[in-house]
Amino acid sequence: MISYKILVTGAAGFVGFHLSKLLASKGVSVIGIDSLNEYYDVQLKFDRLKILKEISNFTFRCVNICDKDALDELFQKEKFDVVINLAAQAGVRYSIDKPYKYIDSNLIGFINILEACRNNPVKHLIYASSSSVYGNTIEVPFSVKNRTDEPVSLYAATKKANEMMAHSYAALYKIPMTGLRFFTVYGPWGRPDMAYFSFTNKIVNGETIQVYNHGDMERDFTYIDDITTAIEKLINLPFDTPEEQDKPYRLFNIGNNKPVRLMDFISTLEKHLGKEAPKKFLPMQKGDVYRTYADITDLETRINFKPHTSIDEGLGKFVSWYKDYYKIKLV
Ligand SMILES: NC(=O)c1ccc[n+]([C@@H]2O[C@H](COP(=O)([O-])OP(=O)(O)OC[C@H]3O[C@@H](n4cnc5c(N)ncnc54)[C@H](O)[C@@H]3O)[C@@H](O)[C@H]2O)c1
Repeated sequence: MISYKILVTGAAGFVGFHLSKLLASKGVSVIGIDSLNEYYDVQLKFDRLKILKEISNFTFRCVNICDKDALDELFQKEKFDVVINLAAQAGVRYSIDKPYKYIDSNLIGFINILEACRNNPVKHLIYASSSSVYGNTIEVPFSVKNRTDEPVSLYAATKKANEMMAHSYAALYKIPMTGLRFFTVYGPWGRPDMAYFSFTNKIVNGETIQVYNHGDMERDFTYIDDITTAIEKLINLPFDTPEEQDKPYRLFNIGNNKPVRLMDFISTLEKHLGKEAPKKFLPMQKGDVYRTYADITDLETRINFKPHTSIDEGLGKFVSWYKDYYKIKLV
């Protein structure tokens, strides 16, 4: 890896933590920022940061990307080569209750990042989008060539807006931009609001888990290390296709390319926890989609890598981290 100075936003978050750890431990100079918001247990964010702060190439600043002045000052001072924007208000269901959190971090925060990159030129801006932009697309696997103009949650709408905003800045100012549509990322140090984590909490405590759409859903679960490996490979990928030379903009799906049925995912989790969950079957929740399934042909062709961790292996690693972190003895 060439010695770059990289800004990772959302560095105390799940993906940001793992990516910062990977890059900084390989000698890259990483500056991580995060607002440390209270969407989920902040202690988990502090504990992730504690690990990152032990790596000499990593520096943390508590900065909110909605704070334009603080962001501008940081960009002017640090002169980043590469920016990886992972800071966002994540979660589909929460966007029903707290829509303005999404407008703030995902739209205002994102334009602040784009403007900072415009005023302090960077070699590459990589930003997180989401599989949710596909809405309830019937055509599978989901290809970046598919139409994505029917989001079914405000979260998805803000992620789609990010792609459009990035496109306009790449076209106008020739800022090289890569958008990444992540597909259900999971693993150690994960997000407590996501099903694999909240189900684990409930199974451990002997509580009933709520299974939406009566279990008839599929997700393309993607293990965290596959995501960070792909991002690392994308950092230095040249913009050298004819379209990219014309306009330095591209989008990739990063998914496992192997959707798993919700009930199979639950039984794999139960197997690793050694405990069966009482289940309550419920109808579909507002904003949710039935299935996600990534077409990753472009990613494979360009970086010669595809996510490969099976749900069995990945959930096994998650459960062993969970038991260790929460000091829980199961089987
Ligand atoms: N985990 C997934 O399955 C998944 C799937 C699709 C897309 N994504 C996207 O990937 C990115 C990372 O997700 P994650 O799972 O690590 O989520 P996360 O919530 O763990 O991490 C996001 C971090 O950003 C921080 N943050 C939020 N608003 C901020 C702001 N205004 N200024 C500074 N920091 C702010 C939060 O405190 C948090 O630590 C997000 O953009 C998310 O939308 C994640």
